[in-house]
Amino acid sequence: MPADKTIELTLKKLEMTAEDLKALIDLQGKIIAGFKPDEQHFILHRTIDDFSNALKSDHMYVFGLYDKDRLVSQSILSLPGDNDRRDLEEFAGEYKNSELAVFKAVLVDPEYRGHGLMKRMLKIREQVALDHGRKIAITQIAADNPASWVNAIQYGMQIAKVGFDPEDNAEVIYLKKDLQQPAPDFSSAKAYHLALGSDVHRNMPALFNKMIKLFEAGFIGTAWDKENNHIIWYKKEDILSNQIKKHILANKGHVA
Ligand SMILES: CC(C)(COP(=O)(O)OP(=O)(O)OC[C@H]1O[C@@H](n2cnc3c(N)ncnc32)[C@H](O)[C@@H]1OP(=O)(O)O)[C@@H](O)C(=O)NCCC(=O)NCCS
Repeated sequence: MPADKTIELTLKKLEMTAEDLKALIDLQGKIIAGFKPDEQHFILHRTIDDFSNALKSDHMYVFGLYDKDRLVSQSILSLPGDNDRRDLEEFAGEYKNSELAVFKAVLVDPEYRGHGLMKRMLKIREQVALDHGRKIAITQIAADNPASWVNAIQYGMQIAKVGFDPEDNAEVIYLKKDLQQPAPDFSSAKAYHLALGSDVHRNMPALFNKMIKLFEAGFIGTAWDKENNHIIWYKKEDILSNQIKKHILANKGHVA
């Protein structure tokens, strides 16, 4: 991609056509070929059937960003119905399916990375989810894929669970974003700063253990301090009590 970033990309909802199917498979193939052996689990390796099912589904949207006629990024949004079996059943069980939007992996052509395409895909899916009245967006990211989860946090998602994928026992991070409420106010809450260090990949086993402990102690990972390369965590109760305080202040004078 030219460094001047002026290139115009076109958004398209992909359809069940041979051309769209081939473009999806080709881009996924290019990305998988670019992964090191220990990065292969970063994304689901979708078969032609998997892509066809997503394209044909009545509750999934497959989006593509195109540079002229070249597909350079793809993402899937699932808006499950209450009677559907949804992805990530092990997470956010307190919500009805019809309140949720599931963000599946974003893939960006290596030549187009670092230009905000992943963030664009997050925004596009958020808008479609909101248009369908969804309240909460959820996603799951491999713990050792900080490029993806740091980016999701920057975009406003919060680490709400840290654990193991029930299907393959992989170390994963679950994130969620309330699409209809503004981000909570943390100003008076006590923060825990988790330093990612200069080599986050090497530090990942220790970081994952710390994240598990934070999650078990009731903390939520809410922000990325870019300057210091820290993830900032707050206690769930502090977030809630701040929200309640704010609510009371906003309603002062209206309460008898
Ligand atoms: C993860 C991926 C989608 C990011 O796409 P992208 O379009 O380059 O992302 P963006 O340009 O929106 O954002 C890049 C941001 O991620 C951060 N980032 C990139 N690599 C990083 C790394 N190794 N560690 C920490 N943060 C990193 C950058 O700081 C940058 O932040 P900035 O906007 O403040 O500069 C892309 O690298 C990719 O396709 N990877 C392979 C597939 C994959 O892993 N998908 C996600 C599965 S959940």
